[in-house]
This record gives sequence, structure tokens and C-alpha cells, in this order.
Amino acid sequence: MGGGDSALGDMGMIDDTVGHWSGRRVLVTGAAGLLGRSVSTELLDRGANVLGLDIAWTERDAVNAAGFTTVPGDVRDYSALDTVLREEHVDTVIHLAAQTLVGPAVEDPVTTFSHNAEGTWTLLEACRGRGSVERIVVASSDKAYGDAGGRPYREAMALRPTHPYDSSKAMADLLAQTYAHTYGLPVAITRCANLYGGGDLNWSRIVPGTIRSVLRDESPEIRSDGTFLRDYLFVRDAAIAVLVLADAVGRRSELRGQAFNFAAGQRLTALEMVDRILQVMRSTLRPTILAVSRNEVPAQRVSAARARRELGWRPQVRLAAGLAETVAWYRAHLARPAA
Ligand SMILES: NC(=O)c1ccc[n+]([C@@H]2O[C@H](COP(=O)([O-])OP(=O)(O)OC[C@H]3O[C@@H](n4cnc5c(N)ncnc54)[C@H](O)[C@@H]3O)[C@@H](O)[C@H]2O)c1
Repeated sequence: MGGGDSALGDMGMIDDTVGHWSGRRVLVTGAAGLLGRSVSTELLDRGANVLGLDIAWTERDAVNAAGFTTVPGDVRDYSALDTVLREEHVDTVIHLAAQTLVGPAVEDPVTTFSHNAEGTWTLLEACRGRGSVERIVVASSDKAYGDAGGRPYREAMALRPTHPYDSSKAMADLLAQTYAHTYGLPVAITRCANLYGGGDLNWSRIVPGTIRSVLRDESPEIRSDGTFLRDYLFVRDAAIAVLVLADAVGRRSELRGQAFNFAAGQRLTALEMVDRILQVMRSTLRPTILAVSRNEVPAQRVSAARARRELGWRPQVRLAAGLAETVAWYRAHLARPAA
């Protein structure tokens, strides 16, 4: 256990693997979300044009940057997707849109299956119909593996999820594999560890929830019994992973239908993560353990060995630095009047 900061790479190695994005026309679904915003930023920084599709854009979320176009829409809407792909000459699709919260997935599994499975098949079908998209990445999740008894997840393991969100991600994962193998679509799959970083407004997640509680001088609440173990990855490292994989699957046909884990070897229990955030924020508050979480895998460890070996991807951001940057984002964000 422990919050090890091991397994981080050297700065600069990534630049060779990320590819050349200038002038590319990229549809990012779920662009208003945590990872979608970060992926969009990395793409814009490299000169790509980004069409940011999301079902829940608000004025506050808007990305005001040259090269970014906001596309309000639903990934389950085939004709809207077909129109965007055709009219905007999209050459790359990054599919991140999903209902991502575990609690609501348990309460209402059908809605989660609809967004996550139907959304994925509709998008892949639109790409198949158009036939002009050169590289596609579909976000699955480490949760798609299910309970491996705490052993590190490796890509060769079977997907054995047993809870609604986890199953919905496995469905998306299998759909992407199917469209690659049967129809030759240039699609690869990410299975990321737990992401954290500025911009996450899902307050039921441990990192944003804890930071907001501390900023309000309230005791942070832990939904589990505090012992659930997760592997954490800074969102910018995940965004770079998406770019690396998208570029690679466009060049290397053997990657079609292949899945890659992405993680930084930063493994903490819920209680340890809250303690680390309290340290970073120099808070003396103590967490309240609610122990209400059900239907979650107790221990998740993720091996990113394959991504290192076959893609040359390396995480760059240590937990302490990532948390400091994340806390700074929330301090600024929550200080704004409309928060
Ligand atoms: N956050 C994590 O810890 C994590 C870890 C592994 C994998 N993932 C996966 O990465 C992807 C991005 O995760 P995130 O943390 O940015 O999630 P998020 O909840 O922050 O963002 C998801 C976005 O998708 C949008 N969306 C949902 N349904 C939609 C639909 N039908 N049409 C269009 N937009 C829709 C939402 O409005 C939201 O803005 C997801 O597919 C998620 O399953 C996330």
C-alpha cells in the first residue's frame, strides 16, 4: 500500500511519442468533463482543431480558445454525429463521453448503460459509416476488469465486472474491440486508473469532494470504510496517454482493437488519499468515515507496463505536485462568485 510516487518517467520522453497534431481535426466527446477538458487543452496546445461535443455544456464550462468549437450534443444521436464527422472533416475521434459516477450507476443502471454502451456503439457506427476517420480512441476504465483480488490489472486479463458502471465500461471496451476486429476500424482503448486534477466538478469523487470540504472548513466525508485502494493518475498524464495512443493507432494497424492500461504506480487507500490532501492543504480537519459505499471493488492496482513498453508512454506528474496543482485550481475556482 502506501502513496508511493514510483514509476514516473523522465520529462521529454513523451514528446517523441505524442505525435504531430497541428492541423488535425479532432472530435472529443465528453469534452466538458475532467479528461475531456484536459485532452482538448493538450490538442489545442499542439495546434489541432477541436470539436468539443458534450450533452451538458454550460456557459461556465465554455472553452474560449482559438481552434475550439463547442458542439452541444448527445453521442447517442447518430445523425448529429454523422453530420459533424462529414461537415467538419473529422480525422480523429476521442470518445470520452460517459455517465461516470458509480453511485448513480447503481441507482439507475439503464441510464448508465444507455450513455456508455449505446453512446459507444452509436459513435463507432457513425465512424464506420463515414469511413474517413483515421484514428479513434475509446475510453474504457480499469473498472472494466472487475475484482482481481488486488492483483495488478494487466491487459491480458479477462474483463469480469459485476457492478453497473464497471459493466458499462466493459461493454464500451468490447464494442471498440469488435469494431476494430470485424470492421477494421482504427480504434484503440484506454483503461486508465482513477483520475484526479483541476476541473472535476463531480463532488462525490474523493479528490474534489475532500478539497471542497476543507475549503468550507468542514470535515471531509469518506463514502467507503476508508480502506478501498485505488491507483491514481494525474489528469494531464492521462490526456497525454490519449494523444499517444491515438497517434499510435493511426500509424500502427497492429494496435487496432488493443487496450492499454495507464497508471502511475501511485496507490492509496481512501483514507491515505484524504490524509495526503489534508497535508497539502495544511488542514487539521479529520475525515468522517460514512462506510456507505456498496458495489465497489475493494482493491484496484493497475500495471502500465504495456503502455511503457509498446507506446513509450511515461507518467510525468508525482502525486504531491499533482495534488498541489489540483488544490490550487479549486481554490481559484471556488473563490469565483458563481461557485
Ligand atoms: N475519472 C476517472 O477516474 C476515470 C478513470 C478511468 C476511465 N475514465 C473514463 O474516462 C472518460 C472521461 O472521464 P471523466 O472523468 O472526464 O468524466 P466526466 O464525468 O468528468 O465527463 C464525462 C462527460 O461526458 C458527458 N456525457 C455524458 N453522457 C453523454 C452523452 N450521452 N453525450 C454527450 N456527452 C455525454 C458529461 O456531460 C460529461 O461532461 C469516461 O469515459 C470515463 O469512464 C475516467
